[in-house]
Amino acid sequence: MKIFSGSANKLLAQKIAESLNKSLSPIEIFVFPDGERRVRLEEEVVDQDVVIIQPTTPPVDESYMELFFLIDGAKRSGAKSVTVVIPYLGYQRQDYVFRSGEAVSFQVIVSILENLGVDKVIACDLHTIKIPEFFNVPFVHISALQLFADKIEEFGFGKDDTILVTPDMGGIRRIKIISEMLDGMPYVMVEKNRDLTTGSVEVTAFHGEVTVKKAVIVDDMISSGRTIVNAAKILKEKGIEEMLVFATHPIFSDEASQILQSAPVEKIYVTDTVLIPDKKRFAKLAVLSVAPLIVDHVVS
Ligand code: R5P
Repeated sequence: MKIFSGSANKLLAQKIAESLNKSLSPIEIFVFPDGERRVRLEEEVVDQDVVIIQPTTPPVDESYMELFFLIDGAKRSGAKSVTVVIPYLGYQRQDYVFRSGEAVSFQVIVSILENLGVDKVIACDLHTIKIPEFFNVPFVHISALQLFADKIEEFGFGKDDTILVTPDMGGIRRIKIISEMLDGMPYVMVEKNRDLTTGSVEVTAFHGEVTVKKAVIVDDMISSGRTIVNAAKILKEKGIEEMLVFATHPIFSDEASQILQSAPVEKIYVTDTVLIPDKKRFAKLAVLSVAPLIVDHVVS
């Protein structure tokens, strides 16, 4: 087996390779002055099982193009199979036509991956449960929810003194799963609306009752941080005194660190599906690794 990493998250790729007692195989990426990329695998892959690791982190389109070229390089060089590990799988937010005239961007991505001939796709914490159905090749969905549940228990937060919170109605399934992992911890739901032009987020409804002082907000991703901050503020108003946040993908926009630092929460846990540059890190932030979860599925 040969493992290649694109340039989006070499740290995670190295952790996965090390856990498999392997080194990353070298690649060459040359960027032309106009931004085009020339990608080359620098090791032979004839009759080899090839694993390519590339979360599609910002800039998402560049990460995807690099991934496509790596897959093409492997296929053209005679790889026996190509497994792609895309811990953060971009474009899932556009998985159907919300308004007439829109593209189903995620379908486009899936068509390209399949046309390139990938044999297996591995991704972490999907935006909706429909995502695997888009693929005609084996798809492995890895979830960080058990890591989160373990951490919540480590904090001593239990079902009698804590509520779980989904800050978005799309997260109901997620919150039910983690509630089960935590022995039926109760949950509440925040309904939000995002202005499609400005991106601003406002809370439109709150479902459930708050009778405890601790809360844990769980989401799949943090982008601007506004969803988290709005949920945290309303929870404060409802009497919550101690709050933790767990979100798998830290797709932090430039403003996110500042917005999140001001959130009335004690700690924000994310995972390493997305590499966070130093300038976007802050004191309340902690990173859990998904590498051990991915390793088993790369070899099986
Ligand atoms: C929404 O559907 C997602 O689950 C997240 O709640 C959202 O993407 C977070 O975005 P932001 O951090 O910009 O509010």
